[in-house]
Amino acid sequence: MTRDDKKPDTDTELSAVVEGHATADPPSVDCLLQSPSDPCTLVIIGASGDLTSRKLIPALYHLFEKKGLPDRFQVVGCGRTALTDDEFRARMEKSVLENDEDQSLWEAFKVRLHYRVIEYDSADSYRELAEQLRELDSTSGTEGNRIFYLALPMFLYGTSAQMLGESGLAVEHEHGNGWTRIVVEKPYGSDRASAARLDEVVHQSFSESQVYRIDHYLAKETVQNILIFRFANAIFEPMWNRNYIEHVDIIASETLGVEKRAGYYETSGVLRDMFQNHMLQLLALTAMEPPSGFESDAVHDEKVKVFQNLRPFPTHNLFENLVLGQYRAGTVDGEPVRGYREEQGVDARSLVPTYGMMQVYLDTWRWQGVPFFLTSGKRLGAKLTEIVIKFKEVPVSTFRDVLGKHITANVLTMGIQPREHITLSFQTKSPGAETCLRTVKMNFDFEEGYAGPKLQAYEKAILDCMHGDQMLFWRQDGIDLAWAFIEPILKECESCKDPKRLLQTYKAGSWGPKAAVQLKELMVKQCR
Ligand code: BG6
Repeated sequence: MTRDDKKPDTDTELSAVVEGHATADPPSVDCLLQSPSDPCTLVIIGASGDLTSRKLIPALYHLFEKKGLPDRFQVVGCGRTALTDDEFRARMEKSVLENDEDQSLWEAFKVRLHYRVIEYDSADSYRELAEQLRELDSTSGTEGNRIFYLALPMFLYGTSAQMLGESGLAVEHEHGNGWTRIVVEKPYGSDRASAARLDEVVHQSFSESQVYRIDHYLAKETVQNILIFRFANAIFEPMWNRNYIEHVDIIASETLGVEKRAGYYETSGVLRDMFQNHMLQLLALTAMEPPSGFESDAVHDEKVKVFQNLRPFPTHNLFENLVLGQYRAGTVDGEPVRGYREEQGVDARSLVPTYGMMQVYLDTWRWQGVPFFLTSGKRLGAKLTEIVIKFKEVPVSTFRDVLGKHITANVLTMGIQPREHITLSFQTKSPGAETCLRTVKMNFDFEEGYAGPKLQAYEKAILDCMHGDQMLFWRQDGIDLAWAFIEPILKECESCKDPKRLLQTYKAGSWGPKAAVQLKELMVKQCR
């Protein structure tokens, strides 16, 4: 018998929970890895930064290891820091081989890495880059196919996209170019207007079909599985609506604090950092209608309808639907940690929220009256991302004379991370002479029965971009609508004159502000 003590206290009425099992057929060999794409060069602009060594090069190296890269594949890192190819390779080696001893594989990979110094705002600098790329095409057979990955601070995205345009690098199938794609990291703008300005600049040189706006949550296996689970099974979809579902919880809690990103986070906070993007994507996947086919535009079209149907947030009584918090000093994983305001680079009087819990409604036939609670925060009790579908209680309790009126409702949990699972709880009779109920769980672990290679989010995102598949990236209209929803909340918060109302504090290592738990309990009661 197990009980999950780490989860937020949403299941308090469960008397006993017994876990069972689901079994998995082995996956077909075809789904282990897509065949390598066309030959190409990946150009990382901003290659001396953290993202390149922490995420991009390790992702490429692991794809290489899994034979997921085309044979003719090169990487050109561009940055302002003066480095030779060898120095760049030595830096990358440290981040890749930390826990990996396969030196011979690294030797085979590293010869594909090149580095050049670049001025981000100089068209001449990009023209010289274009020259190098053409040379590389002729020596390495990369056929002029290029991905430009902007691993830059946000304020340089527009400049770099513009310079790529001016130097002729954005054009496809001309001047020696094959296909050309641009990858833009989040944050995509800091509000609706800045996102639109960025789009305007990017679209001066690139068409929408060339633009890949990353949301690494979409590339997580278990996030991709939401649509498969919903639309490849006939038994759940008929219940996936207001008639059977009481409310939906979407939770993304982290144990990490702001780390070394205070400069960015102080201008962002949890609403821009997690809600405008990852949380709304999880909501869209949970709530969308079945797309007409499993292809990029059809999926984007349905997501966009979800964003269009978001009920405008009631900013006139903001704090009856939203709790924001900021962590103070506490203990995480047994280690004392400081409060947000004591973090390096954070203003000692900062009012930036590191936690948010909001109630959101969708004005559609399917979802009318069903609240979606979105919760995300840093320095919470555990790393946990999950979507919890809480079904309605039985309409009448047949067992009311023996067991009382309330019978615990069914709960379906889609665990995104760290445990990747799908679990359905239901009621059974407890063995024995007395009539007692017990809640049991039918559980499927995502990796069960699977021994093949797994793709980390960045590996999947890079691979899809190489294949020209935009499904797991943001489309322009989605970004705009997501900002349109979040922006009024941001405005109201940023003009709030009462810091105590605006921001609750919570102890690092806890489950967030008490006010959030209380408000949520109240809101759940109201929706019954
Ligand atoms: C990023 C945010 O997009 O997502 C970070 O900028 C956050 O603040 C991270 O920590 C969470 O991602 P994951 O994959 O660890 O849940």
